[in-house]
Amino acid sequence: MNRNIHKEKRLKTPDRVLSKAGLGSRTEARSWIGAGRVRVNGKVIRTPDHWVDLDRDKVTLDGKPVAEAERRYILLYKPKGYVTTYRDPQGRPTVYDLLPDVDQFVGTAGRLDLDTSGLLLLTNDNQLAEALTNPEHRVPKTYLVKASTRLSDGQLEQLAGGVELSDGVTRAAIVRRIRESEKYTFLELTITEGRNRQVRRMLEAVGSKVLKLVRTNIGILSLTGLRIGEWRELTAQEVAALKKAARVTKRG
Ligand code: URA
Repeated sequence: MNRNIHKEKRLKTPDRVLSKAGLGSRTEARSWIGAGRVRVNGKVIRTPDHWVDLDRDKVTLDGKPVAEAERRYILLYKPKGYVTTYRDPQGRPTVYDLLPDVDQFVGTAGRLDLDTSGLLLLTNDNQLAEALTNPEHRVPKTYLVKASTRLSDGQLEQLAGGVELSDGVTRAAIVRRIRESEKYTFLELTITEGRNRQVRRMLEAVGSKVLKLVRTNIGILSLTGLRIGEWRELTAQEVAALKKAARVTKRG
């Protein structure tokens, strides 16, 4: 997750939590609070003079969790030239510039390099973000690669079998040759780790270089239907499938 976002505590008054969750106006929410229908961490609260930490506290209305509705799962087709941090000391565009309408803090589940385009998931569900990026959970990520050279079958086999990087041998990958041009090979590479600049370093390890890199899939998610620079919310089914793939068993 993006650390800058973690630093900002998501503190809100309970009436704001309820209205943000789309349940009603703040005035209505205050009346529910006054009526004893709202609990914070299991305790009935009677006034809105209360800070709620959205990352820690559980708010319920009539016994139903409210934070649930606050979760955001945003799938962005990141263009190249955007950094995956909240603020860039060098003033370059950040992926957050592409999400002006998203008013909750969402962190990135993993990163893409400045020059990589493709799928980036942003969410305030820290548990899912961490599970998706945890290499132990082996959630597959697929990349379309334009290599700077033509690659032999032997080189592709090396990529698939594991190559030696400075931080250890890579796990087995799925490699598919897409097409050849006179000078370049286009391939699809599916990895389950996600180390820093992994795909670029893998291509270098077999004596080539990445000229273009696009992340086309994260688990069940694909670029289909998104144009570059656009984002959409995940559907409930997609969230459930991702959680299953990332082995998220309980809510954070
Ligand atoms: N591998 C890379 O080398 N860069 C990315 O942005 C993603 C995966």
